[in-house]
Amino acid sequence: MSVGDAYFDAVYAGSQDPWGFRTRWYEQRKRDLTLSSLPRERYARAFEPGCAIGVLTRGLAARCDEILAWEGAPEAAARARADLADLPHVEVTRARVPDAWPQGAFDLVVLSELLYYFDDRDLETLLKQTVDSLAAEGTLVAVHWRHPVEDHVRSGDDVHRWASARTDLVRTVQHEERDFLLQVYEGAGAGPPRSVAEREGLV
Ligand SMILES: C[S@@+](CC[C@H](N)C(=O)[O-])C[C@H]1O[C@@H](n2cnc3c(N)ncnc32)[C@H](O)[C@@H]1O
Repeated sequence: MSVGDAYFDAVYAGSQDPWGFRTRWYEQRKRDLTLSSLPRERYARAFEPGCAIGVLTRGLAARCDEILAWEGAPEAAARARADLADLPHVEVTRARVPDAWPQGAFDLVVLSELLYYFDDRDLETLLKQTVDSLAAEGTLVAVHWRHPVEDHVRSGDDVHRWASARTDLVRTVQHEERDFLLQVYEGAGAGPPRSVAEREGLV
């Protein structure tokens, strides 16, 4: 079974910032690497499920014209909404994926530290929903902790194995270190994705 609401409600009842997104150098560095890995300078419409208190969302907001940031835990969604109130192009919604999924296409989907909470069925559903909603030349970025955590359904490596196994996604970035894996994918639909240099006309 996927990790349920009660677990995250308890986590947020115990701390304003349970993972130290605002305080840990580890988190700041990983966030900066995630943002730097995105192949395009600007995105029109992004989706970030599991946005927590909205710290990565704020970084994404500088690169996106519109962001849908969804968070399953009511307390975290309220904090994210309050913190991001100065950014009118960011819409924070309390909603749980993959049971719900937003309408329309996205040129960026951000799956950061989320998928190890999902059982096989939810993970498969979510990856399919992601692929189906990726616009042409859209970007999927996935980043996950690699060390064992008792409360997780699966490891970060397993999450990335599932994504890598999909034939409808092509991996264009792989950043691997002992603590986390960061991968960027693009849709396999229209042939091999163009590299950043190709998009910039350098090659
Ligand atoms: C470890 S935090 C990651 C936050 C953010 N994505 C980041 O990397 O900075 C995971 C967040 O996902 C939320 N979450 C877990 N399962 C969810 C689901 N099924 N739908 C939406 N949010 C979920 C949790 O409440 C939590 O806030």
